Amino acid sequence: MKILVTGGAGFIGSNFIKYILSHYPHYEIVNLDKLTYAGNLDNLSDIEDNQNYQFIKGDICDQKLVERIVEDKIDVIVNFAAETHVDRSIYDPKIFVETNVLGTQILLESALKFKTDIFIQISTDEVYGSLGKVGAFTESSPLLPNSPYSASKASADLLVRSYFKTFGLSAIITRCTNNYGPYQFPEKLIPLFITNALFSQELPIYGDGLYIRDWLYVEDHCKALDSVLHKGKIGEIYNISGSYEKTNLEITDLILKKLNQPKSLIKHVKDRPAHDRRYALDSSKIRNELGWKPDASFEEGIAKTVDWYIANQKWWQKIKTGEYLEYYQKHYVLREKM
Ligand code: NAD
Ligand code: DAU
Repeated sequence: MKILVTGGAGFIGSNFIKYILSHYPHYEIVNLDKLTYAGNLDNLSDIEDNQNYQFIKGDICDQKLVERIVEDKIDVIVNFAAETHVDRSIYDPKIFVETNVLGTQILLESALKFKTDIFIQISTDEVYGSLGKVGAFTESSPLLPNSPYSASKASADLLVRSYFKTFGLSAIITRCTNNYGPYQFPEKLIPLFITNALFSQELPIYGDGLYIRDWLYVEDHCKALDSVLHKGKIGEIYNISGSYEKTNLEITDLILKKLNQPKSLIKHVKDRPAHDRRYALDSSKIRNELGWKPDASFEEGIAKTVDWYIANQKWWQKIKTGEYLEYYQKHYVLREKM
């Protein structure tokens, strides 16, 4: 099987490539990635010489390039490529529409033209919007995105659905909850707080910190995608979740305890506009129909993740310089103005 992974130099994509090459060593992987600020070839240094792996630097919005790649006997496209940070989508929505919507349409068009066997769209629980204290979204819950990021992901989902309905494209959509684990860019809550806490820097909690996310260890997401790739039904949507719901303050406490750092590092800062209060997914469909379940408990996953960031300081210290620090300076100025 020859798989085109887009966005494979990012957090989940790089974990997925390594998962597939270790479980299916005879599969071929082509990784198409633009190497934005979030793309990092260091994530893949241990497999870069694998005969069945090829990296191509490029943009999913580049139709000619995408067609040239897909024409070369691609069986499956797994589309991870995206702009992924909610805060950045508030400051600069345009690139989110370009990559997440237009880029997905270009991939869909190539999949159709060259008759790929499966197109898997990696979507997110954020497309359903925010939940109150109880309940969980199912695959048939309405799409009510609240940020430019989630609106662009929901738009892409609707395009994928339309290519299935109108043109009969063999497509599947997966919607996963918040991931965490090795190689996550340190702008997202867990890696930002671990790497800040390691150097006794402040942990900026948005608002009251009682926002809830449903967390999944990244390897369990990769396993779920393995089930979808091999057993998923064309035209379906699969929610993926571990059902480990935590408030941001609970997570922060766990990180501080594990690193033996004081709670005084917590700083409550101005809230994110339209901040979704709670995410939770009902993932009984993938569990019952495809036999998937997560292996790592949240406590195991977070312990492994903290240990990974302690052991891999070179990886994230290389990131937390120049462009990264400039973004943070702008981020705090822009946030105060909102
Ligand atoms: P990430 O930001 O770590 O990586 C995104 C990757 O896409 C980067 O390597 C980047 O260079 C690449 N990319 C961006 N624009 C591109 C373009 N135009 N052409 C080619 N490559 C491009 O993201 P992630 O957290 O690994 O998320 C991967 C996917 O999973 C995204 O589609 C995201 O919406 C989805 N998702 C993420 C989470 C999460 O918690 N991180 C949860 C559910 C779904
Ligand atoms: O739910 C899946 C989504 O999870 C993915 O689709 C997105 O790509 C991914 O970025 C993530 O979105 P969130 O907005 O939930 O993740 P983030 O890590 O940015 O924030 C998690 C929670 O922590 C959220 O309630 C905001 C809060 N937060 C975040 C940061 C970065 C803080 O309180 N302080 C912070 O500095």
